Amino acid sequence: MVAPGAAESFPCDAVGVAVYAGQAALRGAAARVDAALGGALAAALAEEKFEATAAATLVLHTHGRIPARRIIAVGMGAPDAVTAETVRRASAAVVRRAAQAHAAHVALADDDILPADAVGQAQAEGALLGAYRFSRYRRDDGGRVDRLTLLTADTARRDSLQAGADRGRIFAEATLLARDLTNEPPNALPPPALADVAAQLAARAGLRCTILEPAQMQELGMNALLAVAAGSDHPARLIVLEYAPADARRTVALVGKGVCFDSGGLNLKHQDLEWMKADMAGGAAVIATLQALPALRPPVRVVGVVPAVENMPGGRAVKPGDIVRASNGTTIEITNTDAEGRLILADALAYAVRQQPDEIVDLATLTGSAMVALGYLAAAIMGNNQALVDRLLQAASRAGERLWQLPLYDEYLEDMRSPVADLRNSGSSRYGGAQKGAIFLREFVGGRPWAHLDIAPTAFLEKEEGTGPYLPKGATGYGVRTLLYFLNPPDLPNLPDPPHPL
Ligand code: BES
Ligand code: MN
Ligand code: ZN
Repeated sequence: MVAPGAAESFPCDAVGVAVYAGQAALRGAAARVDAALGGALAAALAEEKFEATAAATLVLHTHGRIPARRIIAVGMGAPDAVTAETVRRASAAVVRRAAQAHAAHVALADDDILPADAVGQAQAEGALLGAYRFSRYRRDDGGRVDRLTLLTADTARRDSLQAGADRGRIFAEATLLARDLTNEPPNALPPPALADVAAQLAARAGLRCTILEPAQMQELGMNALLAVAAGSDHPARLIVLEYAPADARRTVALVGKGVCFDSGGLNLKHQDLEWMKADMAGGAAVIATLQALPALRPPVRVVGVVPAVENMPGGRAVKPGDIVRASNGTTIEITNTDAEGRLILADALAYAVRQQPDEIVDLATLTGSAMVALGYLAAAIMGNNQALVDRLLQAASRAGERLWQLPLYDEYLEDMRSPVADLRNSGSSRYGGAQKGAIFLREFVGGRPWAHLDIAPTAFLEKEEGTGPYLPKGATGYGVRTLLYFLNPPDLPNLPDPPHPL
């Protein structure tokens, strides 16, 4: 994917070059291309009054004057504000513009405003994420970029650019896998099929994989999980994937909500139903993250746990008023069958605790309340350990995935107590719904350092609102890159072991 070469001499259908706002002259690859074209790029930018705002594009045909058939100039905003996210968005914008123009082979010129590994990773991530479409079920339509080259004319930057690009490609492809799993319609991926796909991915990547069936869950006392599955003809699965390198210094458990379809159950939903195939986005993110780890080789044991169920109303469906005993002994009065995510996560978290993890991170499309609070622009994070939350916030910021902390006051638990059981699964009002869901989950983590990401706001986008150069409508794959940056921190290879409260 990385090739030696310069934008002005490389043959391809389109080459992307960076243009900065508020600058009198072009710099880097844009300047060299402009010189080779006798000033035609600068002239076109001036005629179009191109302001180089972030991710704005301008296409210029070269008519054989240089080997690239088109230049796609992309705005970067002001040079002193450039981050990896600027490069990611710009790269995605170039690739999307190229696809519209039916340009199949796209090259992106190196931009030495950032270190080469950061540029390579951000270009690969942005380009691959931006090119994504969920097209399995469609006759192909429109243009498609099928070849990407990252160009650098500077031999000193080539190896780092390549290393960054390799990493970016792994991060992006894992994200695309999560998007695909989430976009799959619910008739194609009921819980047993999701488990089969996870097992295949694990075998291909070289992960340990254990799939629990309902009889085994019953033996383990996972009655909260089984209660949610009871209304569906598709049986539940508990998917457990394990990456265990010989040099592991700590264990992280990743738990992902895998509701393959959330009808609400007997508390039947009356809106958003066509999006409830995406209620397994947290589980998809966990599976996609795990299968990427062997290629990245972080020195951390990672156990992924995905409870997979379908939440349906049926003759045997769980009923409001039912009381179940979860596998950690806690009894739960089920006051709303649509608050099913926390029920399956209760047993999945208790299972994760038995793996002796140093840290637990769960991802779940848990509440509409998180969407009310944040819109489509950020997921919510809450936890019982600020150091862990801080590291996840930092990883998310590196990934360009917005994450915002909400408070987890102990008092939220008061509204989750039941007069007839230890807990109830829904509170008395809508207020503080995301926090009340999180505080319920906290009861199942055995006091270990834990963070909960409520990804309902960001897991899928129903409209243009919230989409950007590399986010499509539909599933976004949110969380995969945050988890990968969290498990593979770029400049902190020797993180001290996190504090353990036990
Ligand atoms: N899967 C939903 C949350 C959701 C809603 C995600 C819309 C994405 C878009 C979850 O299972 C749910 O129904 N939560 C309820 C909880 C309530 C009954 C306590 C909610 O948020 O309304
Ligand atoms: Mn629900
Ligand atoms: Zn749900």
